[in-house]
Amino acid sequence: MDEKYINWKTEGIFRLGSAALCLFLLVFTCGCGIFSSVSVEDAEGDGYGGENDNLVVVGFSQIGSESVWRTAHTASIQAALTKENGYFLIFDNARQKQENQIKALRSFISQRVDYIVFSPVTESGWDTVLEEAKEAGIPVILMDRMVDVEDDSLYTTWIGPDTEEEGRKAGRWLEEYLKMSGRQKEDINIVVLQGTLSSSSQRGRSAGFAEIANRYVNWHILGQRSGEFTVAKGKEVMEQFLEKYPDIDVVVSQNDDMTFGAVEAIEESGRKVGRDGGIIILSFDAVKDALRMVETGQIAVDVECNPEQGEYLAEVIGILERGEKLEKAYVVEEKVFTMENVSKYMNDRSY
Ligand code: AHR
Repeated sequence: MDEKYINWKTEGIFRLGSAALCLFLLVFTCGCGIFSSVSVEDAEGDGYGGENDNLVVVGFSQIGSESVWRTAHTASIQAALTKENGYFLIFDNARQKQENQIKALRSFISQRVDYIVFSPVTESGWDTVLEEAKEAGIPVILMDRMVDVEDDSLYTTWIGPDTEEEGRKAGRWLEEYLKMSGRQKEDINIVVLQGTLSSSSQRGRSAGFAEIANRYVNWHILGQRSGEFTVAKGKEVMEQFLEKYPDIDVVVSQNDDMTFGAVEAIEESGRKVGRDGGIIILSFDAVKDALRMVETGQIAVDVECNPEQGEYLAEVIGILERGEKLEKAYVVEEKVFTMENVSKYMNDRSY
């Protein structure tokens, strides 16, 4: 997939397009009030029309609010698609259910929004509703996660993280750490706290990490189970792992919320976390509270998943509005945080 993905920064299209976008937004936002997004229900009633006629209407179906990351992702989109910036945003929270997302998408179609934006909870099962959007002539922009459809003309473009690479980054860190600490020949027992099964973040991170793990006969993945990207479920699954596998060396936790739960479970069981003889935690997302745990050594490495995608979305809509050439995928930039580098990034984090 790598070659078809365009690196945001190296392409530089957004920097080039930003002056034109500002001009566009200036023209379209004169006289518009301060942003507030409305729910699908409000929009179906008397939400837009009249004074909002000149705004670009965007229906956004978010997966839910399962994690700190998700809340930051929603906030980033709401902050970018404001009335001041020329948008009328209809927001729907699907509460982790695909059927709710499909319902929201159909509602956006019947309201004839200008753009449909959604983060698909899982990858499959979207063909029919996306065909309906295509027939209605409404461009669909995927964010964060991907869909698994045979016909990729069913969506216009995708903006999100390369989750497979995130998984590889975690694996490479472990590889390097074991070498540096002279443990490369030891048996390493690993458990994986997976995110929502069949979501692209779960699949990508699992595949990327497995690619590195498969190179080592002494890395043993003892168990993989879903903690559904939440603190409570992460804790519950970690408790089960601790009971079943007494000799865990490494936990790969596919998001920070599950990590918070897992660390609690480990410490309550009387075991330690950390590089000094504790269970080594590899986490994903890099939200502020988790970066604090990187600083204290409770999390050994946190691979960033960047939720600040709202500006990118505004740029993509700008490209579409101007009728310019669009790429099929835009990958957001991400870092890797360890005790060695985390302090210089702590103050930048708003989430
Ligand atoms: O799809 C991104 C993942 O979904 C984030 O890692 C997780 O925190 C979120 O809920």
